Amino acid sequence: MSDGHRSVRRTDYQPPAFLIERVELHFDLDPKATIVRSRLAVRRNPAHADRAAPLRLDGEALTLLRAALDGEEISGNRAIEQDGALVISGVPDAGVVEIENRIAPDANTELSGLYVSRGNYFTQCEAEGFRRITYFPDRPDVMARFTTTITADRAHCPVLLCNGNLAATEDLGGGRHRATWDDPHPKPSYLFALVAGDLVAVRDRFTTRSGRPVALAIWVRRGDEDACGHAMQSLKKAMAWDEAVFGFEYDLEQFNIAAVADFNMGAMENKGLNVFNSKYVLARPETATDADYQAIESVIAHEYFHNWTGNRITCRDWFQLSLKEGLTVFRDQQFTMDQGSAAVKRLRDVRRLRAAQFPEDDGPLAHPVRPDSYIAIDNFYTPTVYEKGAEVVRMMHTLIGPAGFRRGMDLYVARHDNQAVTIEDFVRALSDGSGVDLSRFLDWYAQAGTPELTAEDSYDAVARRYTLTLRQRTKPTPGEAEKRPLPIPVAMGLIGPDGRDIAARMLLLNDAEQRFEFAEVPAPPTPSLLRGFSAPVKLKGVARDRLRFLAAHDADPFVRWDSGYQYATGIMLDMIGAHQRGETLALDAGLEGAMAATLAGADADPAFAAEALSLPSEAFIADQMDTIDVDAIHAVREFLRGALGRRLVAALRAAYARLSDGGPYRIDGASIGRRALRNASLGYLAAAGAEGVALARRQFDGATNMTDVQAALEVLAATDTADREAALRAFHGRWRADGLVLDKWFAIQATSARTQAVEDVRGLYRHPDFDLRNPNRVRALVGAFASANQVRFHAASGAGYRFLADAIIALDPMNGQAAARLTNPFAAWRRHDAGRAALMREQMQRILGVAGLSRFTFEKVTTVLGA
Ligand code: PHE
Ligand code: ZN
Repeated sequence: MSDGHRSVRRTDYQPPAFLIERVELHFDLDPKATIVRSRLAVRRNPAHADRAAPLRLDGEALTLLRAALDGEEISGNRAIEQDGALVISGVPDAGVVEIENRIAPDANTELSGLYVSRGNYFTQCEAEGFRRITYFPDRPDVMARFTTTITADRAHCPVLLCNGNLAATEDLGGGRHRATWDDPHPKPSYLFALVAGDLVAVRDRFTTRSGRPVALAIWVRRGDEDACGHAMQSLKKAMAWDEAVFGFEYDLEQFNIAAVADFNMGAMENKGLNVFNSKYVLARPETATDADYQAIESVIAHEYFHNWTGNRITCRDWFQLSLKEGLTVFRDQQFTMDQGSAAVKRLRDVRRLRAAQFPEDDGPLAHPVRPDSYIAIDNFYTPTVYEKGAEVVRMMHTLIGPAGFRRGMDLYVARHDNQAVTIEDFVRALSDGSGVDLSRFLDWYAQAGTPELTAEDSYDAVARRYTLTLRQRTKPTPGEAEKRPLPIPVAMGLIGPDGRDIAARMLLLNDAEQRFEFAEVPAPPTPSLLRGFSAPVKLKGVARDRLRFLAAHDADPFVRWDSGYQYATGIMLDMIGAHQRGETLALDAGLEGAMAATLAGADADPAFAAEALSLPSEAFIADQMDTIDVDAIHAVREFLRGALGRRLVAALRAAYARLSDGGPYRIDGASIGRRALRNASLGYLAAAGAEGVALARRQFDGATNMTDVQAALEVLAATDTADREAALRAFHGRWRADGLVLDKWFAIQATSARTQAVEDVRGLYRHPDFDLRNPNRVRALVGAFASANQVRFHAASGAGYRFLADAIIALDPMNGQAAARLTNPFAAWRRHDAGRAALMREQMQRILGVAGLSRFTFEKVTTVLGA
């Protein structure tokens, strides 16, 4: 306990004293005073040790109006309040508790619990938001059957939605009406949802493979109906894929998705009623980029997939979060890989893991996929729990194969349907189902840090024998000095001098060091390691000539891409050293050759080529350095972009011209790939000089889709030209009323590398369209600046740090979860030079000095500052 914030430890888990068999909820909706009545059928839990334990009903920010047990008012000291919870003693083995309480959804700026967004009601209950609606054992291992009645004004709230199936509707006269929803599936309170207001539905149908019809609806604000087509298509594809690959059928008569403009996260898998940040639902070609379309497809799929992995089988406690999130991310990644280019999807997912999760594992926020303790679980919806968790599932999938994995998942469901379980239960089911003992993979859940993998090899020409020695090592992380070796599947091949595979194998590195022998190898081979990125590790020390060979020849597209990426990284790190010594920079011939070859062969797979052309990000390079030098990183990367643009100008021009098909906008993989390659070419041409800027201006004026408009505006926003101001003004004028598009306007300026970026973002913070209460807007301006504009956020003056701290301090009292998430860019503070580190520490201390700081921000900042 510190500063009044208690921490929860995984090993302290206790089963609940009471189970809830049924819940009947009644809502009388009013923005200032909503009345919630609940009737709980409670039963003592035989699994709880203390037979006299009181009934604990969590609560937060509630006004209690009445509490009764078996029809009698609870009075005196039978019920006490403890940190907002209602603790009732003397409850019999079975009984009925009635509660009446009041909440004010209009005043709820935390966006957790029941809140109003632009006149409509929404809920967000994961992880602990249900206790902000009514008193309840708000923990995932209490699964109950819910029936919910919603009463509201028909004029304000013609639409009344909840989990499950619609059971009844009733007109109450006097302009009031009521709907009753029944959810037949037991669920934890975090999956409860209610949506009410003036929304319209886009409808469709799906028939499950056993023939049951499902009514699908996406609920949006009037005027957005035309922007739901892609989300609906994605949903139907996801439903069909889950049946085909896992045999998972949908289990209710209706499936509803509601879009909301104010939302802390991406989306939420509430049973039968997913609630989505509108960013992951709405798309029109002129308002959404290709990346937005792709994100919608995967988030829709992700939330849908939770219906089985998360909802039917849920987490025993919040430490098991990756049980549902890692597994469901793995499933949505597999789904997307099956929809189009598996290779491009895989390398993008790896890029994302390296950009967000590897740095987390390297810094003060490092934690195991299954954390050991927390103050606010909301702070653990992290790339480690999600993306690294997905990689751990993927490793097991790789080892046991799709058929073994399917048998494991079948067994998981057979054993645990309608239960709240642990990660051990999951790994045991996969092991028993596949017949392969995977228990050692539990160490991947338990140990923080990213293993480093190195290889040493030798070839005996006489014996025709090749020997490969693999070693692993994990650096210490906070609180964990000693690291154990982990089981690392290394998918690999041996490539002959002619560029063809001699052998392909799956190695399992179990120890710190292990030797693998290959017989009958006719010529000295080049090893291709970690094909498909078979484990979330850092492969180090591959020689440059080998990287170039692999980048040109490997049969595995991931290794081909990654070798080019690692090669470029090595070159850039060398150049950074040269820059720091004051030497002049020169373009490496190998890099130029590789980029030229990529451009020449680009038409075979434009999407892949676009990825191969994009240099490692500044943040990725930073993560490779012991002491981060943001200015040198930026100077080197910009130098390279300019030099490559000039040297390859003819090929870039040709690609740009060839790919301008002028045909109708299509959102398929091939079209997306062409746009990506064309815009990558535009970026290089603009880095090379004025010609590219003029092209960008022309593209900005003529483009009819947001992908091309945004790419052009990004180029212009980084310049100091009159075109910049004109384009930004035009964009704002056209899209002022569309919040999601206006977010792009903020983000593009926030991530522009021009030198006055800090003043720009300060100005934008005061812009009438900036709104601290809208998380998307905050992410677009403050989040984008601090996390995606490395060189300007880390301005030596400290102005970027002050700006971020000001924003966190202003936001924390309104929305602590969102404020806490903004603190991440400070996490690497110790890896910067002493001056910057001191300035960052000063700002973090200023944040900690604020009276009444939320537990969310308190936990993040104290963890980042360290002991
Ligand atoms: N469970 C959500 C998901 O699918 C994320 C989320 C967490 C949303 C907490 C809201 C609050 O990943
Ligand atoms: Zn999820």
